[in-house]
Amino acid sequence: MAKATIKDLDLKGKRVFIRVDFNVPVTNGVVSDDNRIVSVLPTINYALEKGAKVILASHRGRPKGEGFEEQYSMMPVYLWLKNKYEDNVFFSKKVIGEDVIAKTDELKEGQILLIENLRFEKGEKKSDPEFAKELRKLSDLYVNDAFGTCHRKDTSVYVLPALYDKPVAGFLIEKEIHYFETVLADPKKPYVAILGGAKVSDKIPVIENLLTRVDSILIGGAMAYTFLKAKDVEIGKSILEMDMVELAGDLMAKAEEKGVKILLPVDHVVTNKIEDGRIEITSDVSIPDGFMGVDIGPETIVNFKEELKMAETVVWNGPMGIFEIDEFSSGTIAIASAVAECGCTSIIGGGDSAAAVRKAGVFSGISHVSTGGGASMEYLAGKKLPGIEVLADK
Ligand code: 3PG
Repeated sequence: MAKATIKDLDLKGKRVFIRVDFNVPVTNGVVSDDNRIVSVLPTINYALEKGAKVILASHRGRPKGEGFEEQYSMMPVYLWLKNKYEDNVFFSKKVIGEDVIAKTDELKEGQILLIENLRFEKGEKKSDPEFAKELRKLSDLYVNDAFGTCHRKDTSVYVLPALYDKPVAGFLIEKEIHYFETVLADPKKPYVAILGGAKVSDKIPVIENLLTRVDSILIGGAMAYTFLKAKDVEIGKSILEMDMVELAGDLMAKAEEKGVKILLPVDHVVTNKIEDGRIEITSDVSIPDGFMGVDIGPETIVNFKEELKMAETVVWNGPMGIFEIDEFSSGTIAIASAVAECGCTSIIGGGDSAAAVRKAGVFSGISHVSTGGGASMEYLAGKKLPGIEVLADK
């Protein structure tokens, strides 16, 4: 890889600022999905083993930037870390200033200081050089392992690194780059993309970029209804982006020109009401009046699985239906299992698809489950990530 990594730094005795993405869900004060924390442990542990004094910094949620807000505190993450690192991890309620600088100075080699949510400071969201200067005082070296935040120009990922001689990537970013840049730059064919989720509008740049690379695109989730509408299919009261219908038609025409197959649902799980409604499976592609599509149907699952059987590379972003509700999760679960079983290189981006893979119990069958939602989408759209671009080259 072209970027320097933590292995290129001499960490011994140094205060090392590791920007992580601990933007994790919390229920009743406890971290309820620790995937993003677990994913950066190799970097943290490597730094500790090499005798670094580790400063961990992250955002969580979208606070107003006007100081402490309990619901976005890093305290639950601190408790998670405390469980693992016991007496070797400390917490700073302050993000910048004399008090936190003193805490970094007090750290011994092999110890960790987690600081409070960076976004409690208004400078974090503003690419703010003054805030960056204050953060710079907390450490000697800089490592970015916050892949999920690298599409942002937040101060700690975009401005701060430039204040160090050699800002480097951690192991998680190294791995994410490997899959999104190296593997997808030269994918083994057939290369199949699966796209789902609610909105076509969110996925336009991704679809446009994928059309130049993939052999087929399987479209499920609510976005499929906009594509079906473009083919004059009756979609009842399913979610529809009316202003995207024409574009969906254009994308399908473009795909045909390029010889890229687009597979849409041919049947659906439908309901008249999300909660306690009547649930039916349509006999064909059209959805009756008063009903909305909430999952792909059984025949669609067969078609999608057939396509996945031949795939050598698969990229998946977005669920096939409202998979959080058990009755509407069969399509997403079936696709998760099919991806895990296809024996291909499989890359999954986006929190929902990752959760689906976990719900299906096939997490370990996937080559790479990305920790980035927005960040992985930017990659799939063929864009560069600002937080990675600013890191030093090897
Ligand atoms: C994410 O969860 O996608 C990242 O942590 C970025 O969060 P943001 O969308 O609030 O910038």
